Amino acid sequence: MHVLVIGSGAREHALLLALRRDPGVDGVSVAPGNAGTAAIADQYDVDVTSADEVVALARRVGADLVVIGPEVPLVLGVADAVRAAGIACFGPTRDAARIEGSKAFAKDVMSAAGVRTATSEIVDNPAHLDAALDRFGPPAGEQAWVVKDDGLAAGKGVVVTGDRDLARAHAASLLEAGHPVLLESFLDGPEVSLFCLVDGDTVVPLLPAQDSKRVGDGDTGPNTGGMGAYTPLPWLPAEMTTRIVDEIVTPVAAELVRRGSAFSGLLYAGLAITSRGPAVVEFNCRFGDPETQAVLALLDSPLGALLRAAATGELAAAPAPRWRDGAAVTVVVAAENYPGRPRVGDVITGADADGVLHAGTARRDDGALVSSGGRVLSVVGTGADLAAARASAYAIIDSIRLPGSHFRTDIGLAAADGEISL
Ligand code: GLY
Repeated sequence: MHVLVIGSGAREHALLLALRRDPGVDGVSVAPGNAGTAAIADQYDVDVTSADEVVALARRVGADLVVIGPEVPLVLGVADAVRAAGIACFGPTRDAARIEGSKAFAKDVMSAAGVRTATSEIVDNPAHLDAALDRFGPPAGEQAWVVKDDGLAAGKGVVVTGDRDLARAHAASLLEAGHPVLLESFLDGPEVSLFCLVDGDTVVPLLPAQDSKRVGDGDTGPNTGGMGAYTPLPWLPAEMTTRIVDEIVTPVAAELVRRGSAFSGLLYAGLAITSRGPAVVEFNCRFGDPETQAVLALLDSPLGALLRAAATGELAAAPAPRWRDGAAVTVVVAAENYPGRPRVGDVITGADADGVLHAGTARRDDGALVSSGGRVLSVVGTGADLAAARASAYAIIDSIRLPGSHFRTDIGLAAADGEISL
């Protein structure tokens, strides 16, 4: 089977590595990729938001399966076009991708499916903003305002703050840019990312993971696309994964089927484990980044077979995924000024060790590896437990040089130290 992977991040680098370990996969291509993926796959520079270009490339490389990594092509209907061309595609239709692309659609589906989530309100008129902020205000300051862009914002459209002025400023700037604002109640409790392979009504969970979205140690600073992740979660009882599947993901998948928008691909439930049980923070319609880098490091089953089964409606008959013992930690090395406008073009050295996945990297004309985006590398360490996996990831980072770069030093630390409990 030849697999074409669409995307250019460390998530796609991780997908390609796992696909190459599958004996049923005899070739991999990627578009547009990065400097790391160029070393392990045939790489093509196409516009991945163009359905015509992706279909033409899939035909040209003889792809038996197309795996679409990022949300933007999915929301634009690229998976629909690939399927219409008679090629199996891992990724939902444009209709089903609204579970990520429109927060309002997601809320409607969750409400119909009876799934616990934050209460919310959409504000599209600046004149209504102050009254809405008052309705969502944190009682006694112990909670926070959650202000989101009602659309795709790569994680950076979210501000969670106890400061009303900050909440108001963020909401006002979104409205000024013409983006409706979603105000949500704050969900307490540790967060979990549960990725599920979904094909219609069939739901197969992968290992639960947790990502760290704030830029700084101790969950400080602005939100980012994700600064690191670890799996599995020693503080999460196994029955909680079953509960999340039974109470949340399966009812949502069934509701999408009922609406004629059946989901096929990876349904990512972002959850808070509250005192009243698991509740949805958001759904995404694709593998998460950087959790995928950690989760796939522990996958012991052939990834291509699993993705093809989901893409072709055969997931219910596929063997359940097997996992290696131990833990995996991924730490993102980010460019100077990320998550603001990152400095790019800096030379990177020491990035050729095993476990170094590329995201914002490119080759300069002279062959030097340089930074080309905000999240530059995702370094993955594995070990017998979280402490060992952390040690492995940070040892690899020690030998990487990228001027101005920064990374969090506490990925997985609280869990390794037994400081997270339900
Ligand atoms: N881990 C956050 C995301 O993939 O959206």
